[in-house]
Amino acid sequence: MTHNALVIGASGGIGSALASVLESRGARVTRLSRRDDGLELTDPASVERLLGALDGPFETVLVATGALEPGGHRPEKALRQINAEALAAQFALNATGPALVLRHLPRLLPRDRPSRFAALSARVGSIGDNRLGGWHGYRAAKAALNQLVHGAAIELARSHHEAVCVVLHPGTVATRLTETHGAGHARVPAKAAAAHLLDVLDGLSPADTGGFFDWAGKPVPW
Ligand SMILES: NC(=O)c1ccc[n+]([C@@H]2O[C@H](COP(=O)([O-])OP(=O)(O)OC[C@H]3O[C@@H](n4cnc5c(N)ncnc54)[C@H](OP(=O)(O)O)[C@@H]3O)[C@@H](O)[C@H]2O)c1
Repeated sequence: MTHNALVIGASGGIGSALASVLESRGARVTRLSRRDDGLELTDPASVERLLGALDGPFETVLVATGALEPGGHRPEKALRQINAEALAAQFALNATGPALVLRHLPRLLPRDRPSRFAALSARVGSIGDNRLGGWHGYRAAKAALNQLVHGAAIELARSHHEAVCVVLHPGTVATRLTETHGAGHARVPAKAAAAHLLDVLDGLSPADTGGFFDWAGKPVPW
């Protein structure tokens, strides 16, 4: 049976690698992105129009969108840099946008067989792991995304008994996002990161739904 996959944010560094690795593993991939399809995640009408036009079902749905500096706001290094407009932009893209996608999940995932949903979060969204402070908006928006996906997993488990719905930390990956802020960190090529993430998903079972895992499959503290 054909494995159908949907990659949202397929124009991004990790998103395009996820789509091509899925394809190389035999999936039929539907790609959606702002650049190629006009999917504007901060515009609810755009999400409704493009997600609503999909029939599905998809055995795999991945949300690989996001940005560290939405609206061009630099990550905060100190509390005095907290800015309402920058926080709103963070939440709109990194939390609300994926949540608008989650609205479609019950319809897009099959009920009668295994399926998986994952959204790309970030380890810096972990409250338990935050020992450095700073990057307040990005961290908070990813923490909100984690809660939204965790809640979605609980609801989904009632109707989709074989579904896995998780947030993933991809590692530090060589993409546009880390061009300016990845200094000092070894950056993994996007293809390798995508392969790791798909291996992690392959290894998860419905008992793991609602969790937060890194690229090696290790749980990340909330
Ligand atoms: N790279 C890393 O080291 C790293 C580490 C931790 C977490 N992450 C997370 O991984 C995810 C993917 O990051 P990446 O490194 O692949 O970044 P990227 O190469 O910059 O890709 C970002 C993707 O998000 C899309 N996007 C941005 N703003 C959007 C909007 N308003 N509406 C719709 N789509 C929008 C982009 O679409 P366009 O092509 O149209 O701009 C692109 O597809 C992000 O959530 C990021 O936070 C990355």
